[in-house]
Amino acid sequence: MAQMYRINADRLRAAVRYLVSGFGSQEREIELVTENLVQANLTGHDSHGVGMLPRYAEAFLEGGLKANAHIATKMDSGAMLSLDGQAGFGQVIGHEAMELGISRAKEHGSCVMALGNSHHLCRIGAWAEMAVAQNLISIHFVNAYSRPIVAPFGGGDARFGTNPFSVGIPVAGKEPILLDFATSVIAQGKTRVAHNKREQLPPGMLIDDKGHPTTDPIYGVKPPYGALCTFGGHKGFGLALVCELLGGALAGGLTTSTPADGKKRILNGMLTIIIDPAKLSDMSLFGGEMNAFIDWVKASPPAPGIDHVRVAGEPEREYRAERLANGVPVDENTWQDMLTAAQKLGVDAAEVRRLAGI
Ligand SMILES: NC(=O)c1ccc[n+]([C@@H]2O[C@H](COP(=O)([O-])OP(=O)(O)OC[C@H]3O[C@@H](n4cnc5c(N)ncnc54)[C@H](O)[C@@H]3O)[C@@H](O)[C@H]2O)c1
Repeated sequence: MAQMYRINADRLRAAVRYLVSGFGSQEREIELVTENLVQANLTGHDSHGVGMLPRYAEAFLEGGLKANAHIATKMDSGAMLSLDGQAGFGQVIGHEAMELGISRAKEHGSCVMALGNSHHLCRIGAWAEMAVAQNLISIHFVNAYSRPIVAPFGGGDARFGTNPFSVGIPVAGKEPILLDFATSVIAQGKTRVAHNKREQLPPGMLIDDKGHPTTDPIYGVKPPYGALCTFGGHKGFGLALVCELLGGALAGGLTTSTPADGKKRILNGMLTIIIDPAKLSDMSLFGGEMNAFIDWVKASPPAPGIDHVRVAGEPEREYRAERLANGVPVDENTWQDMLTAAQKLGVDAAEVRRLAGI
């Protein structure tokens, strides 16, 4: 078990801001990248938090991730948008795309937005949160273009990425529903987190390089690679397939049937549907029925070992409250990888450490 630091969120922000300056990013990019990564840690998704920076640094140094890039519009018919992310930081590209999509959904009642060629869009729930904050519903189908790491149901090797899916629904008088998950049984970054912590994975998540079940996260981290399984067998595979076809072929124009070049960049394609519920429904009826249903499912007697039923978005809020109070856990291996990345980017690693208070 690797040593674990608990870093105050503001100190972590300060350290990450300084590290991200090594990409040559402008102030707004530094802020968007930092906040997005720290929020991923705060919401409990360490696989998509500050530990992504070493991978981003490698992608940047190889030329696969571009600093200070912005969205470019390819097609625009008002409520339908096709955008290119120009391999820019997903934290900036996703933010700009959602700002535009949200403004169009407010104008037209809905917006269908295809975004291709963005570098890693990270925690997809962050984009649903932007829509929900404006009382809009948003649905996201995403493909991940990099080295294939997930096996199809019934298959014995990796053929596609962890293809996340997310839905955000604002709920009057309650916290929003925020469904956000990888279609692999776990996000790929969780194999890195487990490997860095020197932990085994539960059975049923991974196959080795021969296609046999394994619990050793190394098969997700270093060659010879195995593959992650999809969640829920053929059902997760079906959703992953749809994410690849809509997020990849339709929005991104790129699926993993074209082999990745072995480089470190992660490109995401995302098909987003943003809906203004006020244009579809009587909002008091909609709100009342949602509240009634959420109360109804949450009143189910808890299963053994569970304190209460949670709905999507609730665990992330619980994590955020706990981590804001007690600090963000960062394991020693991840932290060392971040310091190495800082050095590669020409940033003073000792200053990163000092800012984090470690
Ligand atoms: N950009 C990319 O290419 C990419 C790829 C894969 C995953 N991701 C991101 O990785 C993150 C982690 O994905 P994951 O699959 O590990 O998430 P996960 O398995 O932790 O599932 C998260 C979802 O399940 C809900 N949930 C969790 N515990 C629950 C409980 N006890 N009861 C009810 N609901 C519960 C959460 O609220 C959330 O909606 C996501 O933010 C995802 O967008 C990104």
